[in-house]
Amino acid sequence: MTKKIIVAIDGLSSCGKSTMARELAREVGYAYIDTGAMYRAVTLYALRHALLSPDGAVDAAALERRMGEIDITFRVNPATGRSETHLNGQNVEADIRGMEVSALVSRVSALPFVRRALVAQQQAMGREKGLVMDGRDIGTVVFPQAELKVFVTASDEVRAQRRVDELRAKGTDVSMEEVLRNVRERDRLDMERAESPLRRAEDAIELDNTHLTIEGQRERLLQLFRQATEAE
Ligand code: DC
Repeated sequence: MTKKIIVAIDGLSSCGKSTMARELAREVGYAYIDTGAMYRAVTLYALRHALLSPDGAVDAAALERRMGEIDITFRVNPATGRSETHLNGQNVEADIRGMEVSALVSRVSALPFVRRALVAQQQAMGREKGLVMDGRDIGTVVFPQAELKVFVTASDEVRAQRRVDELRAKGTDVSMEEVLRNVRERDRLDMERAESPLRRAEDAIELDNTHLTIEGQRERLLQLFRQATEAE
């Protein structure tokens, strides 16, 4: 049997990395963890407990004290076969994808104590390997020893358009301008933050999917996975 590995997938927001990562995990029988969902769940918790205001002001001291009360789990929805995010036992998959959380998550994910707590949980999930994890700092901070690291990119416009399509498919009416602004602002905050900024690990393989179909991406990733497991 081939040895199990850790696959770290990082990249810009809305570049389709979660879809790629989820599909790969399903295809090769690995667990899949969307770390963006974990930062989103903490953001939702902070909003619901008035520790974060819609203009982005965070009561960091109070949030830090309450980090121990935030329990994030992933549970497979038997109806869809997809893993969904739960916050203290409640399914919050829909709430964490809305514009309100999207607009504020970069503020919360820049807080060092939030990153420390979530990185520790993510590292614990990888102890047995056989895991595909996506995020911003997986190949650089969470699993610098990952056997396969992929850094995904795509143009701003393509990413915003994909996000608009996704939100509209769920019945949320958004404008391209608003989403493009949000995508660019999140890139800026993710890349400029002091704590674990988004950057490509030196040994990560770059995958620009601006002109790739979903099928083309799937094949490329599977090929990289096979090469990485054969090399083990
Ligand atoms: O991938 P996403 O858009 O769902 O991520 C939501 C936010 O969380 C994004 O603005 C950056 C942040 N994030 C992070 O800082 N580190 C990660 N490993 C994953 C996400």
